[in-house]
Amino acid sequence: MPKRVFFSDLSSSWDEQHAGQEEQERLRLFSGHFRLRPGDRVLDAGCGSGRLIPVVCDQIGLDGSLVELDFACGMIEINRSKPHPGNVTFVMADAHSLPLPDNDFDKVIALALLPHLDDKAIALKEFHRVLKPGGLLVIAHQMGREALDRLHGRSSEPIQRDLFPENAVLESLMAAAGFSAIEILDEPDHYVAWGQA
Ligand SMILES: C[S@@+](CC[C@H](N)C(=O)[O-])C[C@H]1O[C@@H](n2cnc3c(N)ncnc32)[C@H](O)[C@@H]1O
Repeated sequence: MPKRVFFSDLSSSWDEQHAGQEEQERLRLFSGHFRLRPGDRVLDAGCGSGRLIPVVCDQIGLDGSLVELDFACGMIEINRSKPHPGNVTFVMADAHSLPLPDNDFDKVIALALLPHLDDKAIALKEFHRVLKPGGLLVIAHQMGREALDRLHGRSSEPIQRDLFPENAVLESLMAAAGFSAIEILDEPDHYVAWGQA
């Protein structure tokens, strides 16, 4: 089964499993790592059903804007159908080939996306291309890399081998894509990597 179908099939139960009140509060606390500023233009790559929308919008305010992007039509449809502020737009597309202009975003957030990208080098180059010079890529997971690899290893076939790259591998992929000032926070219960375009 293609991954986009796999994720589309999960879309109807995604909020129930991942966007309850407790999870949203946890996400809000975790979102300090996104380094968002009022007025930021933000790409939420692999946005799923949109649990980041309230968290990001509260921080960027009405002067900012948010693009929700996912390749699974089920995720985008559910996301778009929920009430959302007017500065949020939706794009159904693959992160390996973004239908978005160069130098457009202050932040690209990839929350729980990276292991699922089949060609990380290409996707990272795309994130770099759409960021403004000095813009920030944030790769974030609310789980440690080992727990994440165990979770994916126990999952169904399309994502069973979606394992996390070693830190040195990710760092060199990010550098090859053009990112500088790369930082990696590899903790037992969360993982964040930042790179500046
Ligand atoms: C684990 S879910 C995380 C969803 C959301 N970021 C969240 O934290 O709730 C991964 C999401 O990435 C999307 N995705 C995976 N590969 C993608 C790709 N190549 N391009 C765009 N979206 C992708 C999936 O459809 C899915 O919605």
